[in-house]
Amino acid sequence: MRLKNAIVNLVDSGPLMREASASGNLKVLASLLGPAFRGLILQRGKHTQNTVMDATAPADYLWTYERAHPRLRKLYEIAKRDQWNSSTDIDWSVDVDPQNSDVTLIPDSFLPMAEHPLFQKLNKKEKNEQRHAVLAWLLSQFLHGEQGALFAAAQVTTSVPWMDAKLYGSTQVVDEGRHVEVFHRYLDDKLNKMYAINDNLYVIIDLLMRDGRWDMKFLGMQIMIEGLALGAFGTIRSVSQEPLLCELLSYVIADEARHVQYGVVALSEYYGQVGGMSARERREREDWVFELALLMRNRFLAHEFYDEYWAHAMGRREWDAMLQESALMRLFRETMFKRIVPNIKRIGLLSDRVRPWYAEMGLLSYEHEPAATDLSARDLAASLT
Ligand SMILES: [Fe+2]
Ligand SMILES: [Fe+2]
Repeated sequence: MRLKNAIVNLVDSGPLMREASASGNLKVLASLLGPAFRGLILQRGKHTQNTVMDATAPADYLWTYERAHPRLRKLYEIAKRDQWNSSTDIDWSVDVDPQNSDVTLIPDSFLPMAEHPLFQKLNKKEKNEQRHAVLAWLLSQFLHGEQGALFAAAQVTTSVPWMDAKLYGSTQVVDEGRHVEVFHRYLDDKLNKMYAINDNLYVIIDLLMRDGRWDMKFLGMQIMIEGLALGAFGTIRSVSQEPLLCELLSYVIADEARHVQYGVVALSEYYGQVGGMSARERREREDWVFELALLMRNRFLAHEFYDEYWAHAMGRREWDAMLQESALMRLFRETMFKRIVPNIKRIGLLSDRVRPWYAEMGLLSYEHEPAATDLSARDLAASLT
């Protein structure tokens, strides 16, 4: 890689590294440095056919096969009952035409650049092209996230020390495989456009693949990324009128609601165990979750789309500011944290020590929303409509 590119990437990622030290926990910061270097500076997820990550996940064989976790057992039964076939249950014959103004892919009010005079000057065809590209960018990130979820689910299945959790995990692996399939099919067959992984999403996935502690994978994937995914899927489904996309999102949301519930049930039992974790280990998890929340709140700024359509018209800082304030990002942040914050509280990681940090981000107001365990998976999915 050319040095000049590396320096440009380093400068661009400055804000992320400043945010990544918000909790002041050096151990957490150190764990982010490697993934940040690979994702932001080297851009390992871009300009390549594949990236091999050094993943860590111990295989914990359980010889007694004891079924000691009834709530996970019940969730496993629900997961088996609610399986669906992505080839036959979804009507793929629907024609998706980005230039058809009768079917809104994303309404203008949810395009981050809709108010900008340059966008308003574009003709109808050009506007439709950018609308189509924004949707392709979003769905591409969903797709890359789903591949990460597929691997994380497989890793958690081998390393979680409870048989009920392993059996449940086997259903999540199938679910995530199906999600990869449907998002890829939609992008490939219907939108005919796909973007590379966002650098910040790469950082989080790289981090999760390498951390060998099963509860950290749960925290990062089931609580944070899947919480984000539920928020994002729910947001898109509520604003899009494209019937095929809405249908496939409904199916995916029902699965994701179970996955989040799996994480909350498993971690609330694990972290609630008397003598299960030292104060230091608990602090590390509290700090780590907060750092991830910051990363997810501030850093999905569609730079890949910006590079293609807007880099000639404005600088990245201006773009970032416009995006942070856009209606889409506001709705997305609200939907996401409404799901995530109560779950963080339910698993015991919203201590008095970290509450002021969440308050400063304006997120404490969500703490009284229902946690995933307060709702059935179906109710949870329905509440997102
Ligand atoms: Fe998924
Ligand atoms: Fe999932």
